[in-house]
Amino acid sequence: MKVTANIVVLFLMLTLAGRSVAIAPAAVIGEEGVVASRSSWASEVGAEILRNGGNAVDAAVAVGFALAVTYPSAGNLGGGGFMVIHLADGTQITNDHREKAPLAATRDMYLDEQGEVIEGLSTRSHMAVGVPGTVAGLIDVLERFGTKSLAEVISPAIRLAERGILLDRDLAGQFERRQKDFAPYAASREVFSNRGELWQVGDRWRQKDLATTLKRIRRYGKAGFYEGRTADLIVAEMQANDGLITREDLSSYESVWREPVRGTYRGYDIVSMPPPSSGGVLLIQILNMLETLDLNASGFASAATVHAMIEAERRAYADRAEYLGDPDFFPVPVATLISKEYALRRYQDFDPGNAGVSSDIKPGQIQPESMETTHASVMDSAGNTVAYTTTLNLSYGAKMIAAGTGVLLNNEMDDFSARENTPNFYGLQGRRANAIEPGKRMLSSMTPTIVLKDGEPLLATGSPGGSTIITTTLQVILNVVDHGMDLSDAVSSPRFHHQWQPDRIVHEPAMLSLDTLNRLKEMGHEQWFAVPNFLGRGIGDANSVMRTKDGIVGMADPRNAGAAVGVSARGK
Ligand code: GLY
Repeated sequence: MKVTANIVVLFLMLTLAGRSVAIAPAAVIGEEGVVASRSSWASEVGAEILRNGGNAVDAAVAVGFALAVTYPSAGNLGGGGFMVIHLADGTQITNDHREKAPLAATRDMYLDEQGEVIEGLSTRSHMAVGVPGTVAGLIDVLERFGTKSLAEVISPAIRLAERGILLDRDLAGQFERRQKDFAPYAASREVFSNRGELWQVGDRWRQKDLATTLKRIRRYGKAGFYEGRTADLIVAEMQANDGLITREDLSSYESVWREPVRGTYRGYDIVSMPPPSSGGVLLIQILNMLETLDLNASGFASAATVHAMIEAERRAYADRAEYLGDPDFFPVPVATLISKEYALRRYQDFDPGNAGVSSDIKPGQIQPESMETTHASVMDSAGNTVAYTTTLNLSYGAKMIAAGTGVLLNNEMDDFSARENTPNFYGLQGRRANAIEPGKRMLSSMTPTIVLKDGEPLLATGSPGGSTIITTTLQVILNVVDHGMDLSDAVSSPRFHHQWQPDRIVHEPAMLSLDTLNRLKEMGHEQWFAVPNFLGRGIGDANSVMRTKDGIVGMADPRNAGAAVGVSARGK
């Protein structure tokens, strides 16, 4: 097998706000398989694994390790993720390697004596760090469904860390913008600055400590991270800075195999991530509500379609706040929430001509800069398909590297509800279901999803973007199923988002014509928030793959500088 060079090239140099922005090649076709991720280096690593006879699971795990090196704002060893897997033999399973609250965590750990949330404690302190799950998850997935050895899938990441990568505008720009965030942490300064100076485009960027940590994982497997020298260094970092993670937290961490949540939508099967992600449940719940309407007839981006979607999203996100949490700690009513019958009931008061009102809670800010988390999709010619979303939570997580490890630590604890009905960074609220408890997984919105038609995988998709992950994934699916778009259009088309609270519509400017906007305002949709147009980042980053009659198409979301790489049998 050789890589296809048959790339539909879309390389645009755009001038935006006075600076050039590179938009990476977008869609590719590969007969033997395709990898789409936020990092061209990581996608190439995955494609090479496919070329060498690995399956989609081998490739996804290799991509996961590579992203920890080449896309440090979200790829990680020090965070967590969810993987949804469909195998050619029909097996469908998910791996939950979400971070956990340390055993010393308590419900009110982010509150002061007056019961007020202490600003920044759950995002910018060592107490923000959840027990990382990524290394356990990737290794468990590989051991159960992969065909390659750990050494084979992790070595490319080691090479990238050891030999270094030539910094492109994307990464050099990120490091520059984050200098203030890294400043308090010596180990972060050491990695993200060039001896105190800014890294420049074209500089070779090596990560020696990270390479050493990866080598320990290659040699000792999970013990190379959760025990021994790496664990010692992480615990030392915690003890020196009032962090909570102990040796026991690390050595007792285990990934969890969970049955996917499953739904149907207009004859397609939806297979997605169950709790502790809210993603799959909300996706299916919203699809069930929308299935009662003819969105194909009302059309893409029409006022009627946008209104119907907003009203379905409003109801689903309200349920999220009440019912969604870690199922190992709270009885999440999944079966009810994803049932068609419940959707009918929930949507029966939908008024096609009038907007509902969420409630009076003061709107928080949704921050367009927060392109944390990252999604990769892989499909091989046998039909093995992986949708993988992984995260440190906010961009570069807690911004701190555990000294001596090269490992950036997450700030996932902010995904818990620090106090009832108090919005987190994303403006999301929660109650008892998502309260902090020792050893509990914080609620996520990550929505890695596989869509099947007649039992065959059609589409793998998902996205970063905090609370907007679910609605981004939803829109890719609606674009394919209802609006008949090809993958390129389905991923590129403008997006919007509503999450019940704050009660407003966040949208890319290109999403809404003046006519649509005016009609929606007449219906009573009053609060609007435009994020920069999609070429200036926009909403989501849905790196997706889709089976077509011409082969497997991969599409890196053109909002960002990722890449899809195809593998062909034809030697072209
Ligand atoms: N940290 C974002 C999420 O898991 O939803």
